Amino acid sequence: EMYKIAVLPGDGIGPEISAQAVRVLEAVARRFNRDFYFTSGLVGGAAYDETGSPLPEKTLALCRDSDAILFGAVGGPRWDHLPVNLRPEVGGILALRKELGLYANLRPVRVFPALAGASTLKPEVVSGVDLVIVRELTGGLYFGKKYREPLPDGGTRVVDTLEYTTSEIERIARVAFNLARQRRGKLTSVDKANVLESSRYWREVVTGVSRDYPDVSLEHMYVDNCAMQLVKNPKQFDVMVMENMFGDILSDQSSVLSGSLGMLASASLGGNTGLYEPIHGSAPDITGTRQANPIASILSGAMLLRFSLQLSEEADCIEKAVAETLNQGYRTADIAQPGMPLVNTTQMADQIIAQ
Ligand code: NAI
Ligand code: MG
Repeated sequence: EMYKIAVLPGDGIGPEISAQAVRVLEAVARRFNRDFYFTSGLVGGAAYDETGSPLPEKTLALCRDSDAILFGAVGGPRWDHLPVNLRPEVGGILALRKELGLYANLRPVRVFPALAGASTLKPEVVSGVDLVIVRELTGGLYFGKKYREPLPDGGTRVVDTLEYTTSEIERIARVAFNLARQRRGKLTSVDKANVLESSRYWREVVTGVSRDYPDVSLEHMYVDNCAMQLVKNPKQFDVMVMENMFGDILSDQSSVLSGSLGMLASASLGGNTGLYEPIHGSAPDITGTRQANPIASILSGAMLLRFSLQLSEEADCIEKAVAETLNQGYRTADIAQPGMPLVNTTQMADQIIAQ
């Protein structure tokens, strides 16, 4: 069987890291005698420069025709002056998620034993952390109406809106409950129900859905408290579910547990074709320096194998190779530790492939 994988490298370090993830997937194909067929597509600033659109029709068609999508990252200062809908982020990745109906973003935060000492947090706080943030991805604050309007006094009123419907909350809650059921059976729903009407309704709907999952224990937590709990006692968490922006912010924060933003992978599910990408952005500050950590992208490739292609043995193989490479001490700059060999983007992938 041939599997079609669309590769959308994007901007900044996007092409640098996704090239390494593709090399690792090719190594897996050789080892397990699998047939992966990669096709690249333009997205983000790179697509805008070439075609005038951050998400060309051709790319969308490629995605729809593929079994899975490996995404790099988009954006950068070069395109920040553009009208919002032409920008790589809103017009590229946000539009792609919406077009493909990818409403469920799974962001696992696992601390590799070898990296417990690489975090800026205490090793006893982070070692053994194994949680998943389920971020609602196609609604909430990032997709509500946004506009500016002039005021008589010469000032401006700016508006962003946070909207959800019953069915949008229900479906993301079900994804989270199903995941919790397969894991340790605990779900934390994160909101700001003491202030936001959307959060009060979120809480009601999630509580309603919980009746179908008597085997999962549900707790509600305010997002501000949750931000604190995540660095104080992260081991209390199993699966967490939350609104789009809350999930964006808390997952970057959680990356500190794992040692670096460059370690965290994600899967975006819900439509016909899953999309897999690191949680980080295009990192213009290190683009071209060969310092980018490719592990987030490589682990996104493992999630792609597991969720879209149902190749779990192959996925395990990648995850074990990453763990073993870290055990051997190889480190990119973002997870550097004294006395351990420092490697660049390609060399890290070389070691993982060797494993
Ligand atoms: P960022 O995630 O690109 O970078 C934040 C910091 O983490 C930087 O210091 C960067 O060097 C470091 N970093 C990120 N990934 C790394 C890796 N793999 N290895 C080592 N270090 C890494 O966030 P920032 O700087 O706020 O945004 C840069 C651009 O990316 C912006 O245009 C932003 O809009 C865009 N962005 C795009 C996303 C996407 O395509 N899904 C997600 C987040 C941001
Ligand atoms: Mg983000």
